[in-house]
Amino acid sequence: MNLASAPPQARRSRRPDPDLSRGAAPASIRSCVRGVGSALPARVVPNEELAAKVDTSDEWIVQRTGIRQRYVAGPGETTSTLAAKAAEAALGAGGLKPADIDLIIVATSTPDLTFPAVATQVQALLGIVEGAAFDLQAVCTGFVYAVATADKFLRSGSNKRALVIGAETFSRILDWGDRTTCVLFGDGAGAIVLEARDSDGRLASPGIIASRLRSDGRHRSKLYVDGGPSTTQTVGHLRMEGKEVFRHAVGMVTDVIQGCFADAGVTADEIDWFVPHQANRRIIDATADKLGIARDKVIVTVDKHGNTSAASIPLALDVAVKDGRIKPGDLVMIEAMGGGFTWGAALICW
Ligand code: UT7
Repeated sequence: MNLASAPPQARRSRRPDPDLSRGAAPASIRSCVRGVGSALPARVVPNEELAAKVDTSDEWIVQRTGIRQRYVAGPGETTSTLAAKAAEAALGAGGLKPADIDLIIVATSTPDLTFPAVATQVQALLGIVEGAAFDLQAVCTGFVYAVATADKFLRSGSNKRALVIGAETFSRILDWGDRTTCVLFGDGAGAIVLEARDSDGRLASPGIIASRLRSDGRHRSKLYVDGGPSTTQTVGHLRMEGKEVFRHAVGMVTDVIQGCFADAGVTADEIDWFVPHQANRRIIDATADKLGIARDKVIVTVDKHGNTSAASIPLALDVAVKDGRIKPGDLVMIEAMGGGFTWGAALICW
């Protein structure tokens, strides 16, 4: 049999089952993806529109980042409304009702309000009155952190079905006069439903197989927002030493990805899809090349969405599921790096 054309399950059945004792999911329960959905603001802002406002050009933005356009929230569109729309779409894709959910985690750095959490606003918008809902803040790594957190809740047996959402309106914390940051970010939301299911623990059994989370606060001033309730009593604006972030990004994410590979006992060439955080096409390509992941296995949406921080991975997942690339049984690697610094990765059998 030609291994390249074999279905993923057949391909992996040739391998010995990995040692799942070091950070990978135990045999009894796995957190399985039941549905995925997303929501984008109505307004698209192409590079040319920004070039009319700040000293930049479509050519510079495309060459340095791969971004061609981004979506920007308008009146009435907030992080919670986008999150709720993405959640509804994920529930619909999974054939579920809001009442089937007993945990909501929203990864965001741009909540509607300082409190209550966006997650409780989503809970109310969906009419859910049971279970728990909270926000998680790990900036661009937020969705990976939220997936790993939900996985631990589900595998503990405390909850059955989780909505894991990445939702952002970074347009509301950008300094629109700063060309070094305002061209990079966009708004949007993506969601997945994770469901606890019995698993035989084999690699080809659906669910989250491994995850690794890291942070290092020594880098906190390289990407931050210059305001907040306890300092300025304002929301503040995003500030970034872009070159410094770039310099650390590839090495940091490569480390956690290789950790997941080791935990699951797989090699880079065995994964079916690589869904990285969408910050910069050059970072995505350099990471894939360093790991030896073929470029045609990389899901890229940064050209259309820009950097939507915690929303970028679930937005990309939804695109790749809808266009038929990601299919049940596929091995999918997600990874991100962002402010803090935080970074992380998770390996999922779809
Ligand atoms: O999601 C969280 C993680 N964030 C990231 O991963 C972002 C990581 N960083 C990056 O993606 C890149 O560093 C940037 C896209 C932010 C910048 O790209 P770069 O290749 O590192 O450019 P640079 O900062 O070295 O700037 C090169 C030049 C500078 O001019 P001089 O000093 O060479 O004359 C900048 O002033 O480009 C200039 N520049 C711009 N020119 C036109 C900076 N921003 C712009 C702009 N348009 N928007």
